[in-house]
Amino acid sequence: MSDDGFPAGFLWGAATAAYQIEGAWAEEGRGPSIWDTFSHLPGRIAAGDTGDVACDHYHRWREDVAIMRELGLNAYRFSVSWSRVLPEGTGRVNQRGLDFYRQLVEALLEAAIEPALTLYHWDLPQALQDRGGWRNRETVGAFVEYAGVVADALADRVPMWITHNEPSLHASVGHALGVYAPGLTDWGTSFQAAHHLLLSHGLAVPALRAAGAGKIGITLVLEPAEPASDEAADREAAERYEQYLNGWYLDPIFRGRYPESLWSWLAARELTPVVEDGDLAAIAAPIDFLGANYYHRRVTAAGADEPLLLSEIDVPGEVTEMGWEVCPRALYDVLTTVAREYRPAELFVTENGAAFRDVVDPDGRVRDARRIAYLSAHVDAARSALRDGVPLRGYFVWSLLDNFQWAQGYSKRFGVVHVDYETQRRTVKDSGWFWRELARTNGAQHPGVASVGGSAS
Ligand code: FCB
Repeated sequence: MSDDGFPAGFLWGAATAAYQIEGAWAEEGRGPSIWDTFSHLPGRIAAGDTGDVACDHYHRWREDVAIMRELGLNAYRFSVSWSRVLPEGTGRVNQRGLDFYRQLVEALLEAAIEPALTLYHWDLPQALQDRGGWRNRETVGAFVEYAGVVADALADRVPMWITHNEPSLHASVGHALGVYAPGLTDWGTSFQAAHHLLLSHGLAVPALRAAGAGKIGITLVLEPAEPASDEAADREAAERYEQYLNGWYLDPIFRGRYPESLWSWLAARELTPVVEDGDLAAIAAPIDFLGANYYHRRVTAAGADEPLLLSEIDVPGEVTEMGWEVCPRALYDVLTTVAREYRPAELFVTENGAAFRDVVDPDGRVRDARRIAYLSAHVDAARSALRDGVPLRGYFVWSLLDNFQWAQGYSKRFGVVHVDYETQRRTVKDSGWFWRELARTNGAQHPGVASVGGSAS
């Protein structure tokens, strides 16, 4: 371990997801996904944006790998588009889709960048949605089949496998709030979808192992919930929120059961999912690491959680372009709490970053000092967590490139590399050079910016 706390071999990476960057939505045999359908509906995405072209990464991946090499990253987290590989979701394999990812992975390895592959970042093949999507238990089997196809093609080259990205947001924002694809607004469906997502994870783990995949894990978004006051009712609301967003996933994965008090609360509202014998044991298949995505904490109060569980109250302090509070201290809290309570063998921050209103200055530079301050403060929080014994093994900034930020389209820029969507020109932002220094010095380098932080940093 270096003086600054980051162990040798620590991964300094960047993350992306297929639908957010690839484009080429109808090329070389790719089938439609729920995000194609959803983004093509009028009024669903800001400014009518779609991922049809996105960052055109499908054609420009060589340049993007070259940028990563220039930044000295030693890891890259990307996701595979299911419908590029299996256009109808099951059955027929599109070899050109597999070849695309194979080429990408080979180029990464050649650049000494470790590929971290996410199988599912919210883009279900539309053909499966037409048969009920994640509400239908058959989708679980389809996912395991898909995982096997990708593993057969890439297990020998990819050391790090992530089954799902943020099943909680996919289940809630996509199936209950209707803001993300598939745009459903039904809480019962949402909890059934969450159960099937978890089950598909648990059943994919042994399938991936059998195919010789490397380390296997799952990525959860972890939002520590804090009560607006010390009142018992507020504390109860915060606890329920935390169970809803974090415990509902962590408990079955690491303990083989759903959190009891939330289960009864949902049962009283007839919202619990159908769970068959053996499901929970399958979900608890041992994994090698947990991926944590962290953006902000959640402050909640009594009454703010009925009936949707998702409302939050405003907090004073700095917020990003997303309206998300800047609170690095909560990253420390969530890493230490999860490490203590669930004992994952290894932890990775698989996403952390911030959207700001960036501009390319006339001299060609993007001076995104606020993003540097944000990242610097959060890396410091991770450093403290490591010092306090958290088995943190890597940190992926969200995102490598400005990209399609779901319902907000291209209006929110998260990249450490700026993308001009008219010309597809890439410009490394100052934060990209900052990330290079972190990677080069294994976290020792500090830019000397004042620590940011909202009220509670
Ligand atoms: C996360 C998603 C990721 C990205 C960030 C900002 O919820 O996993 O795709 O959009 O938010």
